[in-house]
Amino acid sequence: MTSRHTDHVLTARNADEPAEFLARYPGYELTRGLDRLRRTEYAYLDEQNHLYLDYAGSGLAASAQHRAHQRRMQGILPGSPSTTAPAIDHARHAVLRHLNASPHEYTVVFTANASAAARLVGERYPFGRHGRLVLTSDNHESVDGLRAFAKAGHSATTVIATQRPDLRISTSTVISALGRKRPDRRRGLFAYPAQSGFTGVQHPLGWIDIAHDRGYDVLLDAAAYLPTNSLDLSLVRPDFVTVSWYKVFGYPTGVGCLVVRRDALSRLSRKALEDSSLNFLSIPDVEVGLALLADTGVELISRRVRYLTGWFLERLTTLRHGNGLPMARVYGPTTTSARGGIVSFNFLDPSGHVLDPALVANEATGAGISLRTGCFGNPGAGSNAAELCPKSLRALLKHGTADSLDVVGLPSGGTVRVSFGAPSAVRDVERFIAFAERHFEDRFVGELV
Ligand SMILES: Cc1ncc(COP(=O)(O)O)c(C=O)c1O
Repeated sequence: MTSRHTDHVLTARNADEPAEFLARYPGYELTRGLDRLRRTEYAYLDEQNHLYLDYAGSGLAASAQHRAHQRRMQGILPGSPSTTAPAIDHARHAVLRHLNASPHEYTVVFTANASAAARLVGERYPFGRHGRLVLTSDNHESVDGLRAFAKAGHSATTVIATQRPDLRISTSTVISALGRKRPDRRRGLFAYPAQSGFTGVQHPLGWIDIAHDRGYDVLLDAAAYLPTNSLDLSLVRPDFVTVSWYKVFGYPTGVGCLVVRRDALSRLSRKALEDSSLNFLSIPDVEVGLALLADTGVELISRRVRYLTGWFLERLTTLRHGNGLPMARVYGPTTTSARGGIVSFNFLDPSGHVLDPALVANEATGAGISLRTGCFGNPGAGSNAAELCPKSLRALLKHGTADSLDVVGLPSGGTVRVSFGAPSAVRDVERFIAFAERHFEDRFVGELV
């Protein structure tokens, strides 16, 4: 390591925890319980020397979740929709408890994932000639898919673009898109993510009341938010909440939820939203995951993820090539305020050209690192970052606002995404930064290591 790289590693308290980090984030000490959990429940990570940095892609399952599933499988003979019905009901109540939602006010519809939950709303929402769909441009494509349903129902769609440099949206912009206060008249549906799966931006939950006051139902996409944040449905009252449980605690896959307000349910065209046979062997595992989360404490996870994200952003944005130019460009906020543990960025070469994310992905895989590259199902993640995604770029070309698919010189497009979760630790950040220095410092586009 050159002296440039030792700046952050002054007198490490132990080999993999920089003293500067512990001094900057003393509250990290309060999250030590998560180190214990990493040693016990997520031991497989270190046993395999694997660096997992794709918690936004999928959470990781604790070993206890698999043990609980096995025990239950051995106990139910045979597992059928009728024998598992009570366990499914328990899981439904556990979801409501987790969200502090009154069963009088909310109900839980099990789906395959968050995308299926959004589609359910799209298929049954009473879009009409006088109705409107309002969306943020920062949305997963499953929520963006609501446009097709709005169009079929002859409703107009308004998309609110994110603003540079943080790729957030100001509340005043949302208010002007939603229009004047009209709580007495139903105007349509407003849909946005509580947390962006692209930039990690946490859009204000206060928009829910603002939209209600203006006559809108609200769909809150909580898929990227819930794994590391708590949502209290006694404080904010979106009409529809979409969730994928594997993103929250890794297992089971294939189970998500639409949490829906009972009065909004009455406005949907068909009230029976659940498939006739549910994923009855897996849904009870949601209760196990939620119990583990309650034992661990979502606030503790939020806290740790916030510190790690802050430190990661500092380390990444201060990486320099030999000529003093930055090694990375972050898309989205570079501080920890109102953002979660998802960071999208690209590595730059010493002349400022973007290193192809596909190459970063390849070399990360070779180094035993899981991360994501691409657009993460969010091609419109800020019209300002749009040129990064081939899909958005094609749209720009179609509308005559971009000249060539080579504008950004990326064969594959997109960005690199690193995300943190409950098992993450500061040594994960250090290992990633060391990988970045080893592979990309002073490396030009097209140059092999
Ligand atoms: C913000 C957000 N919403 C929705 C989804 C869709 O989740 P799923 O593919 O599990 O349906 C994702 C997936 O990455 C996401 O990040």
